[in-house]
Amino acid sequence: MKLLIINGPNLNLLGKRDRSLYGSLGLDEIENKLNSEAEKLKINIEFFQSNHEGNIVDFLQSNSLNSDGIIINPGALTHYGISLRDGLLDSKLPIIEVHLSNIHSREEFRNRSVVSDISVGQIVGLGWQGYIYALNFLKYYIDTK
Ligand code: DQA
Repeated sequence: MKLLIINGPNLNLLGKRDRSLYGSLGLDEIENKLNSEAEKLKINIEFFQSNHEGNIVDFLQSNSLNSDGIIINPGALTHYGISLRDGLLDSKLPIIEVHLSNIHSREEFRNRSVVSDISVGQIVGLGWQGYIYALNFLKYYIDTK
């Protein structure tokens, strides 16, 4: 099983961004924890981060065919990224949407996600551990489908 773990704009700055919202770990540290979890679960993962919507669409087009599922934190693209939404839909893969912060308890414009209705589920407000829960659930979901 191979899963794609994608992070959108500004998530390369985790650890330096508002820590009260996003925690103190850098993206590389979160990816290290995900690598350890993936090893335990015996699954392959591939990471991608970009600050550019089109680059994420390119990545999806190049990698979806040989993958089984997607975990994505689209960053601010969550709220308006229609070409990202289309790329995710076209992948035809099961998707788990992850946010470090609780987007439903923040500014009103963050309450809306253009990818939540095409995702199996959404994990919000659980910090970096949300990615770990997403990995475990997505493996279970694919295994039992
Ligand atoms: C975020 C929430 C988004 O609203 C914000 O633009 C981000 C991070 C989160 O993980 O909580 O960049 O996706």
